[in-house]
Amino acid sequence: MRSALFTAAALLACAMPAWGQTPQAVEVTPDQLLAPYYEALRAKLDMPVAAPNPALAPATTLTRIAVGSCNHQSASQHMWAQVAAANPQLFLMIGDNVYGDAGWDGDAGLASLRAAYARQASHPEFAEFRAKVPMQAVWDDHDFGFNDAGASFPFRRWSETLFETFWGSSEAVKARPGVYQSTITGPEGKRVQVILLDTRFFRSDLKRGPWTRDRQPLGSYLPDAGADKTVLGDAQWAWLAAELAKPADVRIVVSSTQVLTTAHQFEGWTNFPAERTRLLDLLGRREPSGLVLLSGDRHAGGIYQIEHGGETIRELTSSSLNLTFGDTTERASAREVDPARVGPIHPVENYGLVDIDWKARALTVTLKGNTGAALASQTFGW
Ligand SMILES: [Fe+2]
Repeated sequence: MRSALFTAAALLACAMPAWGQTPQAVEVTPDQLLAPYYEALRAKLDMPVAAPNPALAPATTLTRIAVGSCNHQSASQHMWAQVAAANPQLFLMIGDNVYGDAGWDGDAGLASLRAAYARQASHPEFAEFRAKVPMQAVWDDHDFGFNDAGASFPFRRWSETLFETFWGSSEAVKARPGVYQSTITGPEGKRVQVILLDTRFFRSDLKRGPWTRDRQPLGSYLPDAGADKTVLGDAQWAWLAAELAKPADVRIVVSSTQVLTTAHQFEGWTNFPAERTRLLDLLGRREPSGLVLLSGDRHAGGIYQIEHGGETIRELTSSSLNLTFGDTTERASAREVDPARVGPIHPVENYGLVDIDWKARALTVTLKGNTGAALASQTFGW
């Protein structure tokens, strides 16, 4: 369906030729073609907006940040009270924040995504959480608009507008294509940089493995090392290099999909090995700071670590807030053998915490289940 839509949207416009000249085909991108339509739609529609949310004061010394992903707008919203009870100073909502592609009928106005945001905004549990805890958000495929989609999703400009409107994105984010952003919070010596990467808007198409009758147990994409393939796109790569050159004491780098693991063939940076190495190399060249990666997407959570460039790099995957598939930790862990994973993978409802002990110069990442119990935890210095 996606390629048919793309073809329909990427029509060729013919420039009017002067007398005696042959008509010249001018290629128009879907973004250009759809821009006037979206302008008109925006003027006409009531755009869904999340409940008011306090700003994070720039002078705040951060000691606890929470993270979560994969929240279905039609499922129970009981996790919000639990996350709030942990008293985080900031909550990172890192993708599949709603499932807006569920029931999508292919319309360019993305009515199902708009309805998903409206439903999410209507939950009092979510509004109460929003009233208490500052939030920052980035998207994954289901709030980008289409399962496993990247740059070739023709309606990405509109899903970007919906995202930025709902979450009240900064003017800087609204002004550029994509939803990536970075903030540095805290006084010198206790500065935390939070970098939210956009792994959707610019991402090359995925390489699919050969079709089989049986569903592949660990995903159907193949690593694609093509030199023209990208995850972040040129502008975001340049921006990231500049952000990592800024002074900070701790950096939290968020990718909606997993970074370190290469053990599965679902979505993740493993789909683009050269881009994954480029990211790890670039992180290695950052201005000195503590570092932890956060990711979601998997409907399971866990802690990962690898050695790269003489450094141990850690990642906490937290997913999902309210969309599990009834798997058990034992079964999921046995199926997905992964040397990069520290302990089991937890396919149960969860959220994550990053605790910063400034005195001990130690970071603790914790995966918390829906009873408040810690499913996994790791402490490391910087
Ligand atoms: Fe996802």
